[in-house]
Amino acid sequence: MHSVPSYKTAYGQAFCGDSLELLSELPDSSVGLVMTSPPFVLQRPKEYGNLEQDEYLDWMVSYGRTIKRKLREDGSFVIDLGGAYRKGVPSRSLYNFRLLLRFVDELGFHLAEDFYWFNPSKLPSPIEWVNKRKLRAKDAVNTVWWLSKTEWPKADIRRVLAPYSERMKKLIADPEGFYTPKKRPSGHDIGASFASDNGGSLPSNLLNIPNTESNGQYLDSCRLVNASPHPARFPAKLPAFFVEMLTDPDDLVVDIFAGSNTTGQVAESSRRRWLAFELDRKYVAASALRFLPGTLSDDIKIGAYQKILAGETVDLTSYSPTPTLFEIPA
Ligand SMILES: C[S@@+](CC[C@H](N)C(=O)[O-])C[C@H]1O[C@@H](n2cnc3c(N)ncnc32)[C@H](O)[C@@H]1O
Repeated sequence: MHSVPSYKTAYGQAFCGDSLELLSELPDSSVGLVMTSPPFVLQRPKEYGNLEQDEYLDWMVSYGRTIKRKLREDGSFVIDLGGAYRKGVPSRSLYNFRLLLRFVDELGFHLAEDFYWFNPSKLPSPIEWVNKRKLRAKDAVNTVWWLSKTEWPKADIRRVLAPYSERMKKLIADPEGFYTPKKRPSGHDIGASFASDNGGSLPSNLLNIPNTESNGQYLDSCRLVNASPHPARFPAKLPAFFVEMLTDPDDLVVDIFAGSNTTGQVAESSRRRWLAFELDRKYVAASALRFLPGTLSDDIKIGAYQKILAGETVDLTSYSPTPTLFEIPA
């Protein structure tokens, strides 16, 4: 890339700028995974109507076109999209579904799988339809489209097994005593093979991830440098699920709307190379503090933040040569 990064770590680099321009600097067929969450329709400053929706879709499709070129043949593009209502009426926008159809029909992406991120801790919204008039249930599920360049993206669900239920643990411990094998109505024979311990249960496409992570280190750092924390951060488990499932160590993971760079931090922890692109320099500067050890002095952290704000490149490995690996919450 010929652009200059805002900061570097052992595995990655963060850039401040428009991600479409930054993306186009990457060699074609070089990216293993683009994992991202774009600015949502309703957060865009314009009034939300049909025209704006179409503009938004065109804008996103232009990103999709470039992403497809930059992905390896076995690469994936995972995009998290929050739901939205049409302006002023209790009727849903179909923008996330329209976008999926355009990615597939116009750009030739494959829908490897549709995922749904259920955030049980989401506050009731929209206030008018849920809290006040009680006409709609609270909107607690985001659509997460897993798109791929070919029908055969790299993937291994054994890396993202879910914890066994208590019932399954008992079954594994004592298969004979637990039940007599019999055929289920579906015709599946639930015999002894179901009692083998595979280290966890197969994951489903409903990801139950409360967005209640404390983010202590990031929030403390924002407080220290007097920066506003990013308002729409991923819970680390969301990008972690896709990074683990869809890439190997050293593959390249890119977040084109990186915000507080949760994706970069997760990728660093699982030893994937990563790139983060973000338009707002304040968010880029605050995200750097995720990678600095808590033991460093406040002066060093504030200094690094200010240098990035001033447009300098900061090599974070000069503060801590071994990567500061962050633990993805259990
Ligand atoms: C929904 S937030 C992403 C939050 C991120 N997932 C996290 O964990 O912090 C979207 C981000 O996209 C950034 N953004 C908007 N337009 C952009 C552009 N053209 N290029 C790069 N970043 C952009 C916004 O500043 C915002 O921080």
